[in-house]
Amino acid sequence: MKGVILAGGTGCRLRPLTRVTNKHLLGVYNKPMIYYPLFALKDAGIRSVMIVSGAGHAGDFLELLGSGSKFGMKLSYEVQEEAGGIAQALSLTEDFVGGEKVTVVLGDNIFEDSIREDVEEFSSQSEGAKVFLKEVENPQAYGVAKLSEDGKIEDILEKPEVPPSNLAVTGCYMYDPGVFDIAKDLKPSDRNELEITDVNNFYLKHGKLTHRVFDGFWGDCGESFDSLMHAASLVRNSHLSKIDENLNLP
Ligand code: G1P
Repeated sequence: MKGVILAGGTGCRLRPLTRVTNKHLLGVYNKPMIYYPLFALKDAGIRSVMIVSGAGHAGDFLELLGSGSKFGMKLSYEVQEEAGGIAQALSLTEDFVGGEKVTVVLGDNIFEDSIREDVEEFSSQSEGAKVFLKEVENPQAYGVAKLSEDGKIEDILEKPEVPPSNLAVTGCYMYDPGVFDIAKDLKPSDRNELEITDVNNFYLKHGKLTHRVFDGFWGDCGESFDSLMHAASLVRNSHLSKIDENLNLP
């Protein structure tokens, strides 16, 4: 299983914090934001990870994280030249993933739960995709899952005005290697992006999408100043504040 962290975008919602740096390098309590998704992948036993960043700040990621050897990981880097959406950024990692399965984490997402068992389980299944949901108060800001009475996902709607539930689709996804062909056939959305929600709905329509609802907190710190501050206070009160410089918990 390979890992991918998507850390592109302009971070315009967090200006002026992001005027001279990338959003994913901002501090969230006592670590740079990108340490949290990196830790989540390392904790899940994934060692080979590609970081996709925007053109302006790729060197800063390299300077901060290097080869990954100090974390016991192997890091690769790719540049997304222009903001084309999550699915477009993911498609840049096709050669790196090289026919394996992949766990994708958005670089501004912090979650408390370990995904170790999910990675083990997903590795042993033959195909499909898995998403992770979390109850939120403002589902209209996210992809939202519509569930059937027996708890299966029926549909995922991207930022719906009238959300069918309060279950947001978080920025953690697992895919079989077929994801890259699916991404090639996507059409840009109204916001002119290739949407990861369209990828997930493709798996859903083919009966190949599973999910889990996170128990612990989930923070999308890239959304607003308040979400950044909220994520910092959640980290401060959790085991994540104890990740050390080498991405280990003491
Ligand atoms: C993206 C996805 C959305 C998901 C969210 C999680 O939104 O499109 O489905 O719920 O990440 O952070 P964006 O950050 O691009 O607005």
